[in-house]
Amino acid sequence: AVLHTRGEAEYVDDIPQPADMLYAAILGSPVAHGKVNQLKLSTAKKIPGVVSILTAKDIPGENQIGPIIQDEPLLAENEVHFASQPLALVLATSPQTARKGAKAIQTNITELPVIVDPKIAFQKGEIIGTPRTLAIGDVDTAWEQCDVIVEGSCNIGGQEHVYLETQRSRAVPLENGNVRIHASTQSPYASQRAAAKILGIDYHKVEVDVKRIGGGFGGKEDQATPISCLAALGAWLTGKPVELVLNRAEDMKMTGKRHPYISDFKIGATNDGKILAFEVAHYQNSGAAADLSTAVLERTLYHSTNSYFIPNAKITGTCCRTNLPPNTAFRGFGGPQGMLVIESALEKLAGTLRLSKEDLQQKNLLNKDDPLPFGQRFQNDHLQRSWKKMVKEYDLKKTKQIIDRFNKNNLTTKKGVAVMPVCFGISFTTTFMNQASALVHVYTDGSVSVTTGGIEMGQGLNTNILKIAAKTLGIGPERIKIENTNTTRIANMSPSAASSTTLLNGNATVLAIEQILSRLKNVASEELGASNKDDISIVEEKILSKGEDMGLTWNELIQKAYLSRVGLSAHAFFATPDIWFDKEQEKGEPFAYHVVGTAIIEVTLDCIRGVYDIDSVKIVHDLGRPLNERVDLGQIEGGLAQGLGWITMEDLQYDENGQLLSNALASYKVPDVYFMPDDIQVSFLESADSELGPYGSKAVGEPPLMYGIGAYFALLNAMKAFRPDLEFDLNSPLTPERILMSMYPETVESIKKVTSSKNSLKKETV
Ligand code: MTE
Ligand code: HPA
Ligand code: MOS
Repeated sequence: AVLHTRGEAEYVDDIPQPADMLYAAILGSPVAHGKVNQLKLSTAKKIPGVVSILTAKDIPGENQIGPIIQDEPLLAENEVHFASQPLALVLATSPQTARKGAKAIQTNITELPVIVDPKIAFQKGEIIGTPRTLAIGDVDTAWEQCDVIVEGSCNIGGQEHVYLETQRSRAVPLENGNVRIHASTQSPYASQRAAAKILGIDYHKVEVDVKRIGGGFGGKEDQATPISCLAALGAWLTGKPVELVLNRAEDMKMTGKRHPYISDFKIGATNDGKILAFEVAHYQNSGAAADLSTAVLERTLYHSTNSYFIPNAKITGTCCRTNLPPNTAFRGFGGPQGMLVIESALEKLAGTLRLSKEDLQQKNLLNKDDPLPFGQRFQNDHLQRSWKKMVKEYDLKKTKQIIDRFNKNNLTTKKGVAVMPVCFGISFTTTFMNQASALVHVYTDGSVSVTTGGIEMGQGLNTNILKIAAKTLGIGPERIKIENTNTTRIANMSPSAASSTTLLNGNATVLAIEQILSRLKNVASEELGASNKDDISIVEEKILSKGEDMGLTWNELIQKAYLSRVGLSAHAFFATPDIWFDKEQEKGEPFAYHVVGTAIIEVTLDCIRGVYDIDSVKIVHDLGRPLNERVDLGQIEGGLAQGLGWITMEDLQYDENGQLLSNALASYKVPDVYFMPDDIQVSFLESADSELGPYGSKAVGEPPLMYGIGAYFALLNAMKAFRPDLEFDLNSPLTPERILMSMYPETVESIKKVTSSKNSLKKETV
């Protein structure tokens, strides 16, 4: 925090720049789909300062970076499948010259038909992987027992990550054909693997180092990889350091985002609001290559019933190949889309049943031991407890009364409220990824160095690891340094993702320290003449025997251990126990546990202009025992902001040619401090600690994002209060424009008529 505040925290391009460094720029495809006939490089090559231009032909190894399915070249060769897909890399003496060079390359590409809609892709058989289905009970017979059945469709928007630090990487050639990459990535090991493959060399010849990253939000779980590979390719072929930094416009156009979905649902219940059956088909807009889409879809399926027990359900999903940049991980990783659909289904069902949505939600809330559609049973009563606490602490009943009264007394301003329960599974759904390691050194002056495979991306990982290390060692945090993440110190690391970084790397840290402590306790018990080494403990750098200060200090103990030739370093490995999944049966226990909570969101809508305020968000959250309450609170507020942005104002737009229209922060609005509600309250669910998280802590990175979904339904309720006669489409995000157009369909129709009639007014006048 101190370094950040002083502007001293170092990122990739803050590392001093060697005089001979080359700067790279990418030539991206001008079209979203086409056959590449020719790239004419001669004019570009003549530009003074342009040193080299690399294309697919220059790749010494394999031109392939697909992380799950091998379907994505680093540099396109014969065909391009999305706009801005990398075609060539220009290396020059300055970033400006490199960009000038890229512009000067003449492309000859025959355009092919473009698909941007996932359902059209599906109809044309353009799918990635195989469609998946989760099933519980028997929906087909359950429909007969339902008193009411409603159907609907959700059209869900994507989301741009807007990490403050855009994608970047610096590669430095080392002696003997080795290369070091300073990367801004959530996954150093993915960059190492892919760069080695691109260069055709062993993994151990590629070192990836990450100090910290200026935000990732999932956007650097996988899509930092090509940036590292391109820099490494440049360095490898020129023998000079190469830095590649995308500017904001390039980053927005070139990189994949949260997946847009179209999802069709059908839900049935008894008259008193017991949900009996639910069916949903998710059409994921995966973009032009698989990237992480199949894993994202899997998490969508697992979250398609959110916080509810539904005895009969059929949940299907398909990754649909379109001509957008490959969509990728984004905080929530498919979970938010799944939850938005089931909440939409409940909203519609409540309307038909003439029940309040909150009654319907509560009636079907998960209880301990209820089975989820993928087989795992819900572990506890925390959802029930968080709901009850929310009702009581934030007085739901009174809030609704106040809002009803307000809406009766106001014609053109309406208020809305919604309750959003969240139930989010913790662990990588890909079971093998739930592993981590840590390396701990104690130096002879008593100071300590800790390396883990986790990445500090602003989420506070280093603060958490520091706390864990200090607590386990029994020494002050100022004696401990958390090191850069580096593939030569930690091998085969999973990405920092799935909200699991502290859980995995924190536990590995504890295990490494315990090894050292065990050795130190041997030394201490010998020194102090204690009969049992378990009597020894270390508190505030003092060595205690049976809780009594023996006058031996931490520094003295370390000296004695060193002189007695006792090892003061340890490496340890942690893997989450008892998780598994059987893809044949589509059953298993993929999650270590669920993080749950409930939020109430209130909004005020100006029904003349369509603009609105989020008045308040009041959350009850199951946090376990936080390692640092401020860090967790920061994650809750940050996640909430991103969720609110996704569902309200962040309007990702591509035209029918696959070109990004919302390609700058002028046309793509993100929430700012004024948009955020003045009133954010967070109350923690007491004594809900986790047995698995270090010191009872729980994962917190992603779950709070989904409280933001509540704003969508609060706004919908305000809209309904203004136009109770209308049935609104379920499209997101709910931008002011979209709200206005849905509340005045007659006006929209008459404008359409005027603009389409032959002797109409000029378009501008309309
Ligand atoms: N918070 C900040 N400040 N910056 C980030 O990039 N990424 C989010 C979340 N919170 C992110 C963040 C995402 S997508 C995940 S998965 C988790 O942090 C990853 O970190 P964790 O595993 O330590 O929670
Ligand atoms: N979350 C984030 N990244 C992942 C996951 C997940 O569940 N599974 C595979 N990669
Ligand atoms: Mo987070 S989407 O798992 O990086």
